[in-house]
Amino acid sequence: MADQERKILVTNALPYANGPIHLGHMLGYIQADIWVRYQRLVGNECHYVCADDAHGTPIMLKAAEFGITPEEMIEQMSQAHQADFRDFGVSFDHYHSTHSEENRALASLIYTRLRDNGYITTNTIEQLYDAERGMFLPDRFVKGTCPECKSPDQYGDNCDNCAATYSPIDLIDPRSAVSGSVPEVRESEHYFFDLPAFGDMLKEWTHSGSLQPEMANKLNEWFEAGLQQWDISRDAPYFGFEIPDAPGKYFYVWLDAPIGYMSSFQHYAEREGLNFDEFWQKGSKAEVYHFIGKDIIYFHSLFWPAMLKGANFRQPTNVWAHGFITVNGTKMSKSRGTFIMARTYLEHLNPEYLRYYFAAKLSNRIDDLDLNLEDFTQRVNSDLVGKVVNIASRCAGFISKKFAGQLSDTVAEPELLAEFQAAQNTIAQAYESREFSKAMREVMRLADRANEYIAIKEPWQLAKQEGQEQAVQDICSMGIHLFRILMVYLKPVTPQLAADAEAFLQDTLTWASIDQVLTGHTINKFKALLQRVDKEKVNTMIEESKESLQETAAPAQETPAPTQAAIEPIAAEIEFDDFMKVDMRVARIVNAEHVEGADKLIKLTLDIGLAETKQVFAGIKAAYQPESLVGQLTVMVANLKPRKMRFGLSEGMVLAAGPGGDDLYILNPHEGAQPGMQVK
Ligand code: MSP
Ligand code: ZN
Repeated sequence: MADQERKILVTNALPYANGPIHLGHMLGYIQADIWVRYQRLVGNECHYVCADDAHGTPIMLKAAEFGITPEEMIEQMSQAHQADFRDFGVSFDHYHSTHSEENRALASLIYTRLRDNGYITTNTIEQLYDAERGMFLPDRFVKGTCPECKSPDQYGDNCDNCAATYSPIDLIDPRSAVSGSVPEVRESEHYFFDLPAFGDMLKEWTHSGSLQPEMANKLNEWFEAGLQQWDISRDAPYFGFEIPDAPGKYFYVWLDAPIGYMSSFQHYAEREGLNFDEFWQKGSKAEVYHFIGKDIIYFHSLFWPAMLKGANFRQPTNVWAHGFITVNGTKMSKSRGTFIMARTYLEHLNPEYLRYYFAAKLSNRIDDLDLNLEDFTQRVNSDLVGKVVNIASRCAGFISKKFAGQLSDTVAEPELLAEFQAAQNTIAQAYESREFSKAMREVMRLADRANEYIAIKEPWQLAKQEGQEQAVQDICSMGIHLFRILMVYLKPVTPQLAADAEAFLQDTLTWASIDQVLTGHTINKFKALLQRVDKEKVNTMIEESKESLQETAAPAQETPAPTQAAIEPIAAEIEFDDFMKVDMRVARIVNAEHVEGADKLIKLTLDIGLAETKQVFAGIKAAYQPESLVGQLTVMVANLKPRKMRFGLSEGMVLAAGPGGDDLYILNPHEGAQPGMQVK
């Protein structure tokens, strides 16, 4: 496989230090870890580093809320994060922090080079200022009424209701989400990075054919919209690094965050005697890959390569984005108990179940991945336990009891063995190109072949007959050989299962093991390698995720702490006739799709029994996957005055309960209701 040894550095996005790791986060760390473990298995030099992303306003405010210093908070978070990653089998070579001396030095170096190369300018901007707290307010820390549609309680950067984007200064009745006070507009000098200067280089990269197609499309959209100067400074008070030549000004968290990839590697390289420059200097032959979620493509595919280029470093070989995790078809939700912390999962379930499930569903595209807990249980039980481990458990007993653990001297079915060995190219290619689901399908196809073979040969029948000892030993040895090859193929995905299998086989598995056969070898007594997923434990995990909502739920970065949902007071009394003015109809959702450019909306096509369908834009994207809605019945306000939106005409609304965001529930009539029926 590894004819030329490659030198590879892999990173996954650095988690924010203001909250615990949840299963959504785990997708990227596991995806990258599988890839890394595969590279190491085939003999490449592959380093995997990470760090906590420790800077920014939310971390500063969160620490203040806890009554501790930001340094204390990030230390505690870092310990918790590292324990979660370790227990999920994520094989980082080093875990650092962006709040480190290495990172300060590298951020200063990169900034100074950018400045000296002419890529830094200053400009005075107006921003909302919370005089009570004595701080400028990031967009997500301002709430007010949307200047477009007048909907109240919207964030400072865009409207949940009409999807308009605007400056917080344009909000009507703005409020600080930090203190609740009315913010004032203040001027301040900010530092900017000249992103447009790198437009040609970025376009060239986009057209190189090496990017994921979805990513290239996104970049093209951004090029069309025009690249902007990037604001890289924040005023004190801010938890971050002070800009070397600008006292009182701090690097915006996203400036020093990706530099954390370099500084983590630097610390590790010094410890291990590796050459930092060999990986990061211009013209480096080493490969550098960043695994990230789809929400942070902008930072990694525009700012980061441009910064590196402007500061005379190499650019990443590639940036690989993955989609988001949904659970049971909808966004992870605290109220549904599907906002599952990594630690909560670990308390109930084996991490390798999740690693396998992710692998079985991951492709190299940016699609979202649904963790359907029923499918999860069924898939893990049928594939890992029912197919793979079953091969060993069917064969091992006879070998240890009847043949003192010794495998036959000859291979019973050379052709079948050759088939298993020949699959290595397809599987290697699938791993290399991050098509893990393809690799898993191939492994399970082979596992079926092995089980078929054993079922046909029926060694348990032969074992009862005189003079069939050799046949029994040969068949069961064959089963063990096949099982062993499958364990090599699965080793990147289920490292603990592979380690247990190694102990049982008395063998160390590498990619080269595929072409070696353990004829005449002695194996250990077989112990159950993997338990079935217990449905009860899955349910308990969900229940606990509901209960632990208060203590563990962390607000997302740049998002203020959610206010506790109170029961809304009952509105003023109305007459029956007022109520009857609202014409509500049972509607069937015949189509539901995402709306290009809208963060909150899903476009619904509704059948309300008329010849023509109705179109409604509903702000429910945070709570539902469009596919899960198609075919469902709901209730539509059918006589609402149509409203022209940026995306088209909205001809009414559908009824939903809940405060909003992912905590939203569409009304669903009982069975029997037909499209067009009036609701009264
Ligand atoms: N700190 C930044 C990244 C800086 S990288 C220089 C950040 N942190 S995060 O904690 O919000 O997210 C860490 C990673 O988890 C990101 O890749 C993000 O896309 C990913 N995910 C967060 N929620 C996720 C899901 N629900 N599903 C899949 N990945 C998710 O962004
Ligand atoms: Zn609006």
